[in-house]
Amino acid sequence: MKINERLKLVASFVEENSNVIDVGCDHALLDIYLFLNRKKIRVVASDVKEGPLKIAKSNIEKYNLQDKIEVRLGNGIDTIDDKIDTIVISGMGGLNMVGILKYKKDELKHVNTIILSPNNEVANLRREIVKLGYYIDDEELLEEKKQVYHVIKFKKGKKRYCQTEIELGPILLQKKSKLFITYLEKERKKIIKLLDILPKKYLKRRYQLKRELKEINKSL
Ligand SMILES: C[S@@+](CC[C@H](N)C(=O)[O-])C[C@H]1O[C@@H](n2cnc3c(N)ncnc32)[C@H](O)[C@@H]1O
Repeated sequence: MKINERLKLVASFVEENSNVIDVGCDHALLDIYLFLNRKKIRVVASDVKEGPLKIAKSNIEKYNLQDKIEVRLGNGIDTIDDKIDTIVISGMGGLNMVGILKYKKDELKHVNTIILSPNNEVANLRREIVKLGYYIDDEELLEEKKQVYHVIKFKKGKKRYCQTEIELGPILLQKKSKLFITYLEKERKKIIKLLDILPKKYLKRRYQLKRELKEINKSL
């Protein structure tokens, strides 16, 4: 089956033998792909809306996997069970993802791995998930339709990060891929343009942007 490159990258972060819940599964294509491409895996597809779940069910039936992939209706990780050790959330705003995880900490007891691909607010997401007691185990960038996406794998455990690592990603800074450098150069241009037009009275925002610019310059 075919899925987009972003979902393929998300899938590549999911470990063999894991018990996965895909929160906000929508069409459930990721879940079908995971099931078909892993020897041993348990996958639960979950969404807060009935509409997407209907499409998910119909896609799952197309592949005759209705006895293999469970579909659950519910908000965030309310749908989790004790066996789940891996949470995947992709294609939502970063702060929405943080909200889903942060306010249901008890549900994370058995969760060792959290794989997130947020649409925005990546630095805040890194900061908040680290505060929940997870460290950044891996991170990759991917460009699709001129948009750069992050996929981040968090594992349970504590690590300390400096401001630059939280803002730009400790693993991305280590890997320094070509795409990462291009991404930083574009971000730098965006910030310089913004500083140019942002009135001086927005002191806090200007300070924040200047700090971000300094971190990018240091890393290039
Ligand atoms: C843009 S789709 C992303 C679909 C898929 N995960 C992907 O990356 O292609 C977002 C999905 O998240 C669901 N969603 C949004 N907030 C949610 C929440 N709090 N709990 C569960 N699902 C949620 C929406 O109903 C929608 O189906």
